[in-house]
Amino acid sequence: MADAAETEPPATADRVRIFDTTLRDGEQSPGASMNLSEKLEMARALAALGVDVLEAGFPIASPGDFEAVRAIAAEINGPVICALARCHERDIDRAGEAIRFAAQGRIHVFLATSAIHREHKLRMTPAQIIERAVQGVRRAKALCDDVEFSPEDAARTEIEFLCEVVEAAIEAGATTVNIPDTVGYAMPAQYAQVIRTLRERVPNIDRAVISVHCHDDLGLAVANSLAGVEAGARQVECTINGIGERAGNAALEEIVMALRTRRDYFGLETGIRTERLYPTSRLLATITGLAVQRNKAIVGRNAFAHESGIHQDGMLKERSTYEIMRPEEVGVPKTDLVLGKHSGRHALRDRVEELGFQLGEEQLNRLFDDFKALADKKKEVYDEDIIVLIEQHLDDVPAQWQLVSLHTTAGTSVLPTATVQIKRPDGEVVQDAAIGDGPVDAIFKAVERVTGVHANLREFVVRSVTQGKDAQGEVTLELEVESDDRTYRGRAASTDIIEASALAYLNAVNAIATRVQRGQVREVIGRPGAGA
Ligand code: KIV
Ligand code: ZN
Repeated sequence: MADAAETEPPATADRVRIFDTTLRDGEQSPGASMNLSEKLEMARALAALGVDVLEAGFPIASPGDFEAVRAIAAEINGPVICALARCHERDIDRAGEAIRFAAQGRIHVFLATSAIHREHKLRMTPAQIIERAVQGVRRAKALCDDVEFSPEDAARTEIEFLCEVVEAAIEAGATTVNIPDTVGYAMPAQYAQVIRTLRERVPNIDRAVISVHCHDDLGLAVANSLAGVEAGARQVECTINGIGERAGNAALEEIVMALRTRRDYFGLETGIRTERLYPTSRLLATITGLAVQRNKAIVGRNAFAHESGIHQDGMLKERSTYEIMRPEEVGVPKTDLVLGKHSGRHALRDRVEELGFQLGEEQLNRLFDDFKALADKKKEVYDEDIIVLIEQHLDDVPAQWQLVSLHTTAGTSVLPTATVQIKRPDGEVVQDAAIGDGPVDAIFKAVERVTGVHANLREFVVRSVTQGKDAQGEVTLELEVESDDRTYRGRAASTDIIEASALAYLNAVNAIATRVQRGQVREVIGRPGAGA
């Protein structure tokens, strides 16, 4: 590894920049779309995590994307705020406008270079590609000093041509050259060779930082990125939980912890506050509803669980026998009992701060009420319980319809029924009942009758927040309405999963009702049912 570190300029020789693209490459994947306030929430968490560059979106893609990049650039301090653009004048100008108020901004221009893309997608010759890339970089440079250029599908581009394009882009002003494995096709040794060749053959390469950007189609995104770093790249593009196009991008938490845990091998550092990795991963999963697989490295629920007797015995004698990282390093909460019904506000406030959340006085008051209610139902309140209570208040969806009470009957020889009492937006309490395939289905139908919101249930997931029979169940669901191309997420937790289901459903219905009220979607609200 040492060869790259020895020849890099001192300022970047032992430091790898983390370029987070959760809000751009991550967000454009199915099921990961976020609204403006969710993107801002995520951007704050990424800044607190310590990412060097935050790619906030693709401003030309839609007015919503533009607004999100603009809002993040105006609010978030710390990371460089980056906007993506194709090598088209309109794209670049829009990107420049979106990051205008950033303390530090970057425009990231891209253009495909592989023969497949040149011939079939762009229908352009190699000379035309170089000309367009140079024009794109120059236009971006006129708006912003910090310019990144990506030859899309670089990993499948002929190496001679790739060297030519990269040289021309640097000559035109690019300060970072990113080498994407757009379709996740590369093998680690081969990808490393591409980076090495660029360093050897491109005469002006020392005027730019080399970046890696790998997709996970063959499960090699992290391995390829690390191979690229070993070969001399000093920026890694990655996403929280590895979300992204198709099989995803390289997972930020895996890159960072590999560099940290194997510092003996890489001799490199990042600026990431690793104890924020787990909370950031949780936040993204909560916002998007994209659950993290149990055995996912670093942030999966089982990542630090030791089940076998031999391992447990070794751990008790000496943790390093089977543990290469400590859970505290990545911010995994201890599962020890932390609070109970006699715990006071101070104890709760201290715990919340230790978990890395900063709550205002009003939020803390609400959390304390919820905590007391939970502690009444459940003797032992764990860190995970507290995190779920906090996350429930992250939504900014106004609770237009509120659950007042719920009654269900179900069993092996009765017709499942549900009766719900719901407070309407005008304050009046209305009730209705329905039968269904089971108690949850009956509740959803009763809610539909009261609210008049007709939606299809696309996904319904229940998970236990902690262990034990009295654990809270968290329900995450997705609703779809016919006149809209969006899905609406709802989530809620309770020690009673039937109640959690009703609350999660109403949470999603409220999101739909809010959009209807703003005139953003039509025809989902029928006439409320008879009882309403
Ligand atoms: O995968 C890719 O090629 C990209 C570029 C836009 C950098 O995401
Ligand atoms: Zn990508």
